[in-house]
Amino acid sequence: MIEVKNLTKKFGGTMAVDGISFTVNKGEILGFLGPNGAGKSTTMRMITGFIPPTSGTAIIGGADIFSDSIAARTKMGYLPENAPVYPEMTVTSYLEYCASIRGFKGAQRKSRIEEALEKCFLKDVRHQIVGTLSKGYRQRVCFAQSILHDPEYLIMDEPTDGLDPNQKFEVREMIKSMSADKVIILSTHILDEVDALCTRAIVIAKGRVVADKTPNELRAMSSLHGAVSITLAIDDASAADGLSGVEGVKKTEITGKENGISILVYPKTPESPIADGVVKFTEDKGLRVKSIFVEQGRLDEVFRNITS
Ligand SMILES: Nc1ncnc2c1ncn2[C@@H]1O[C@H](COP(=O)(O)OP(=O)(O)O)[C@@H](O)[C@H]1O
Ligand SMILES: [Mg+2]
Repeated sequence: MIEVKNLTKKFGGTMAVDGISFTVNKGEILGFLGPNGAGKSTTMRMITGFIPPTSGTAIIGGADIFSDSIAARTKMGYLPENAPVYPEMTVTSYLEYCASIRGFKGAQRKSRIEEALEKCFLKDVRHQIVGTLSKGYRQRVCFAQSILHDPEYLIMDEPTDGLDPNQKFEVREMIKSMSADKVIILSTHILDEVDALCTRAIVIAKGRVVADKTPNELRAMSSLHGAVSITLAIDDASAADGLSGVEGVKKTEITGKENGISILVYPKTPESPIADGVVKFTEDKGLRVKSIFVEQGRLDEVFRNITS
């Protein structure tokens, strides 16, 4: 596992990371979420030993990243922000170089590189100069570098940033397919990514952890969680008032008046299910329902509330 213990980083007068602690276990894909400038990259640079912390430390599979740095880094792969790769090398020569630094030689080095090329869909461009590749491919080259040694611990800083939707999908699938026997931490500011990929999300703002939950638990913090969204065929102004009187309902809000009327019905507490009561109301009043669904809650709303 990875244990992050009270990591703190001060740049001059700026407190970039302010006492962050968490533990991640095998099989988990931890999404590190936060607005720009929240301290995601700085935290990852400290976990991977690229910059020293002001205080605190990270333990990677039992090895302290600062006092036992080589042992810790041997087990770890790191995809830094913006995929820094040497532009003048070919894909294969860059990966050969990285594999040599990792201590691989001969046939083993060859097979490691072949596997990484295969996993990252890079076989077709293996002899191309890195600087002539599109951004999506450069990202994959950097990805290949991070998994060359099949690390138990994988730290990725915005792995899908700048990719088109198809490439994002591919990279996410790649990450998922590798996750079973690894500890994965990835940062993102894309909420969909947390849903698509992560088993757990840590939200940070101004260098501090403000939430540590599963994506569903996070969504349940939304004011919309458990609300019933209903569209009636005919704009009946009294319907919203009537729905306010249904047992367990806190309030109603008219959200649209195209082709009938759309009403959002909020429960008093997210735990009190109100859908049955809402349906019964429409039946009793003979109102024709065009659509009805229970809101799960919205990550963007939760994200805004806890990070601003
Ligand atoms: N090398 C540095 N020198 C000074 N300030 C820095 C440095 N790196 C990051 N910062 C500051 O630390 C804060 C967190 O930055 P960063 O970790 O890059 O955030 P994120 O990755 O969440 O966008 C920001 O205010 C940023 O300006
Ligand atoms: Mg960053």
